Amino acid sequence: MEPPSTFHPCDEAVIATNDDASDCKRSAVRLGYWKDDYIGFFVRNQERKAPEINRGYFARVKGVEMCVEKFLKKTNGNCQIINLGCGFDTMYWRLRDTAHQVKNFIELDFPTVTAKKCYTIKRNKVLLSKIHDEDGEVKLSPTDLHGPSYHLMGVDLRNVDEVDHKLQQAEIDYTLPTIFLAECVLVYIEAQNCRNLLKWIASKFQTAVLVNYEQVNMNDRFSDVMVSNLRARGCSLAGVESCLSLDTQTSRFIDCGWTGSRAWDMVQVYQSITPSERHRIERIEMLDEGELLLQLFQHYCLVVAWIGELFQDIEITVEKQMSTLNID
Ligand SMILES: C[S@@+](CC[C@H](N)C(=O)[O-])C[C@H]1O[C@@H](n2cnc3c(N)ncnc32)[C@H](O)[C@@H]1O
Repeated sequence: MEPPSTFHPCDEAVIATNDDASDCKRSAVRLGYWKDDYIGFFVRNQERKAPEINRGYFARVKGVEMCVEKFLKKTNGNCQIINLGCGFDTMYWRLRDTAHQVKNFIELDFPTVTAKKCYTIKRNKVLLSKIHDEDGEVKLSPTDLHGPSYHLMGVDLRNVDEVDHKLQQAEIDYTLPTIFLAECVLVYIEAQNCRNLLKWIASKFQTAVLVNYEQVNMNDRFSDVMVSNLRARGCSLAGVESCLSLDTQTSRFIDCGWTGSRAWDMVQVYQSITPSERHRIERIEMLDEGELLLQLFQHYCLVVAWIGELFQDIEITVEKQMSTLNID
């Protein structure tokens, strides 16, 4: 059914995008944009990123969190989370510190990435202690880690049979409401492979939601520069054809058999964050270039797609529709 899982020439550069994302999250966390007691275990780099980057990551992390929180409230924790292309993301540990608990938390990425994540977890008591309870046991291989309700596994998302096999190892329950997270991941996957994955999810899960954060409006001068910068680093945006507009971002889910989908650009997502929270982070750093942040926000989006009826009323409340940001 699937093309064989072979290493593509670009894979190394795609894997390296996780180092970038993790460094950026670490930079923003150190400055106080949001609280994350765990990212520092995975990233030692202390480099300070530009204010626009820090603010962009703040909106990204908040946007994804808002969707996850709505889902957890709706399901009352009777659900699963599957983090596709998880990188060094720390949501599992951050959630453990809240009242929200889930039945199963599964993280998937290339084995090169999960091997590094496994290695860090294995050597860190704080990370490990939140994976096993008193009598729970943690099973480890170089690339995979299985706790009672946390599973981290190396897999190529382009190979659906392999994904299916791995999810079974993680004791997936296809009947339980499930939220998939894909934070800057699908854009690196060739369109046909991505369609196969989305169709497969739609065929297997009764009730599911996918939160996709990635590029949009990739048809102008700004996006040309973004694409050529990435290409210079050996990384092509293989799935960019789905990132041309909010429309292409949502329609691909419907074409793959999902019940519905909605998308917002990051200008709208930023404006949906509570004013007090926005004012707090806007005081952390002055922006060098407000125009750059606006362009960044216009070229990224949050997409929510669903199977079944559970999330059809998903809405983010945009305070005021503005074409520009109210930047100090
Ligand atoms: C930009 S990073 C984002 C990491 C994480 N989601 C975050 O936001 O912090 C993209 C991640 O997707 C993973 N990825 C891309 N294509 C993949 C594939 N075909 N199979 C597994 N993982 C993949 C990369 O290895 C990388 O860790």
